[in-house]
Amino acid sequence: ELKLLKKLEKQRMGELAEKQAEQAREEEQKEDRGRHHTLSVALPGSILNNAQSPELRTYLAGQIARACAIFCVDEIVVFDEYGEDTNVEGEFEGIGKKGKACVQLARILQYLECPQYLRKSFFPKHGDLQFAGLLNPLDSPHHMRMDEDSEYREGVVLDRPSKPGKGSFVNCGMRKEVQIDRQLQPGLRVTVRLQEPQNPEAKVRKGIVVSSHHPRTVSGLYWGYSVRLASCLSAVFSECPFKEGYDLSIGTSERGSSVDQVTLPSFRHALVVFGGLQGLEAGVDADANLDVTDPSLLFDFYLNTCPSQGSRTIRTEVGQVCLASPGTSTSGAFHTCSIQPRAGLCLAAAWDKLSSKLSLGNSAVSGGE
Ligand SMILES: C[S@@+](CC[C@H](N)C(=O)[O-])C[C@H]1O[C@@H](n2cnc3c(N)ncnc32)[C@H](O)[C@@H]1O
Repeated sequence: ELKLLKKLEKQRMGELAEKQAEQAREEEQKEDRGRHHTLSVALPGSILNNAQSPELRTYLAGQIARACAIFCVDEIVVFDEYGEDTNVEGEFEGIGKKGKACVQLARILQYLECPQYLRKSFFPKHGDLQFAGLLNPLDSPHHMRMDEDSEYREGVVLDRPSKPGKGSFVNCGMRKEVQIDRQLQPGLRVTVRLQEPQNPEAKVRKGIVVSSHHPRTVSGLYWGYSVRLASCLSAVFSECPFKEGYDLSIGTSERGSSVDQVTLPSFRHALVVFGGLQGLEAGVDADANLDVTDPSLLFDFYLNTCPSQGSRTIRTEVGQVCLASPGTSTSGAFHTCSIQPRAGLCLAAAWDKLSSKLSLGNSAVSGGE
């Protein structure tokens, strides 16, 4: 009988330990608020050339920025589908007479991503941005109002001396300046994690500089997108900023497989690529690094996101039908695209469909960056 009691006790203890371990695992999962996967979008800058006027060019760029912000895109790659604007480093001249569409698109995307209170510091007057001030703000989580309370803020390091051993002062768009934990070069853009104010009367707030990924990977916040120029389609892949590369790549085309028939796998770094007026074929043809002629061979999936398209080109009305189709969690998000030039509209429609698939496909992803 004693033996039986001991056995039962042992069994009970085992069950208790298992329950406790399970609880600890659940707690750990709850605490990890971070998002460890990323979504990148690549598109050719040439789509700006389809716009009829400088104002519409700017507006189209603004629509792309808005779409990316709405769907929490972390990286936008602007590629040169004709391989003409090959230089992707250094100072960029801007549109000029020849119309450097890639550079202008990238510049407007960066301008819109930057919180309004920092734009003066980072964007001097430039022809590419002539109409960008008229665009609606993205209103992303990192675009803070002055008195808004927030754990993180974007800021610019000020050119102001601080006492030895103390950190630099940063303008984070608040009434008070923020003193960070280290000395940094004036003019740098930084992400600051604000500390709780010890003394509300203090003249400055205190903060710690963190990486720009920190708000996403630690707190699960959408913190805007980075912008990268690629000199050709293949450079979209070869110059990927993630050391492990993109582990899910999707090409979009009316000649792709129906989006309704695929289940996208989990991913760490997903890339969705859009073509220009001539589709992704134009980028493949012009790229000397690619020895394929069929763009579908470059991607894990090559998808038609409007499978029942009965017209050669997706136009406004069709775009709106796509947006209203059942199963897209974000239907209606692109209602303003009705005044976009054609390529932008195709892009919006495709995006809307894909984004719902991507969020489903990624539900299993977890773990550190
Ligand atoms: C103006 S469309 C290009 C249409 C062109 N007729 C072609 O041959 O692909 C520009 C881009 O929109 C996207 N797109 C257009 N229709 C699509 C569809 N049915 N499914 C997915 N993407 C589409 C693709 O990325 C395409 O490269």
